[in-house]
Amino acid sequence: MNETLQGLLCDQLDALRAQHLYKPLLTVDGPSGARVRVDGRDMINLSSNNYLGLANDARLKAAAVRAVEEYGAGAGAVRPIIGNLRLHDELEAALAAFKETPAVLAFQSGFTANAGVIPTLTDAQDVILSDELNHASIIDGSRLSRAPVVRYKHKDMDSLEDALRGAKDARMRLIVTDGVFSMDGDVAPLDRICDLAGRYDAAVMVDDAHGSGVMGRNGRGTAYHFGVKDRVDIQLGTLSKAVGVVGGYIAGSNALKDFLTQRARPFLFSTGAPPAVAGACIEAIRVMQSDQTLTPRLWENARYWQDGLKRLGFDTGATETPITPVMVGDEAKTQELQRGLREEGVLALAVVFPTVARGKARVRTMPTAAHDRQDFDEALAAFGRVGKRLGIL
Ligand SMILES: Cc1ncc(COP(=O)(O)O)c(C=O)c1O
Repeated sequence: MNETLQGLLCDQLDALRAQHLYKPLLTVDGPSGARVRVDGRDMINLSSNNYLGLANDARLKAAAVRAVEEYGAGAGAVRPIIGNLRLHDELEAALAAFKETPAVLAFQSGFTANAGVIPTLTDAQDVILSDELNHASIIDGSRLSRAPVVRYKHKDMDSLEDALRGAKDARMRLIVTDGVFSMDGDVAPLDRICDLAGRYDAAVMVDDAHGSGVMGRNGRGTAYHFGVKDRVDIQLGTLSKAVGVVGGYIAGSNALKDFLTQRARPFLFSTGAPPAVAGACIEAIRVMQSDQTLTPRLWENARYWQDGLKRLGFDTGATETPITPVMVGDEAKTQELQRGLREEGVLALAVVFPTVARGKARVRTMPTAAHDRQDFDEALAAFGRVGKRLGIL
């Protein structure tokens, strides 16, 4: 390898290790569920985004197999050339019905949806107004745009209003926010954001990666929770969290979809979902709409888990949703907590800079509909023992 490159890589890896920011990859042998097999050991899994337990659902697996048998293993080309399968159209129709929007366009992931949509809709004459704790894919999508980006303080409506006032001469103002913030589990005040958007003539985009399947009527999302679905111009969802597979999508008007099919670069220049993915996602949407017990079970489990942690004396931060951070602060101690829990058979992974700010390290836990009381009770006992030993409790 080129020596300069090798040196740069090694120096940066050494620096990450010295700051306790290096995170080795874990390898899971088998499906994602309430328990997973890692290093030959079954462990309680509190680190997935598999909210509804659909990642290993028999109905989704059967649908994936059927799709492979009918359509093959791959789409064969980017969708605008000859890779637009009937299954892609069916998936978008199912999602549009779920979201109750005129149209949906599917992307390869939530990340590429953000990276595709934001720069396609905005240009140098526009201003992007972005919550300071928005997801990395919003930040990167905004960087790809020629529009200036104004970060407003987290969920702070005075700060957003200041930013809107400062952008009054722009051609268009686009407010972008996570619906549910991925590392803290708190919820954007979409009703107040839409009020401000109305007053300052701004468009609203909500990244509902963690809201779909979780928030609102039958898990339709954060906009439905606040009753502002018709005031949100662009909803982004993922197919990789509650839906349990992989992919992203944009829900909105027909014109929005039409324009994105002509100009969004990840749609134009990267192959669409393989048949197995599209087939499994269609089945997941069907299951989410027909089985009304999944989302309530998720919330009931989240309450049980969060109450248990609080009773032990842990700080679960600002969460209002199943995302449950166990706040520690110090990076080294957070990594120690992760290691200690792992020794006890609990997978609950540390989240450190750059995913969260320095000094705000945490172990991010995620109760799902697939967990049962025994999983939680065992995990709580382990958290109690390790928390005490490390002086966190
Ligand atoms: C808020 C938010 N947006 C977008 C994404 C990206 O989604 P995907 O995993 O489908 O690329 C994530 C994933 O972590 C997320 O948390």
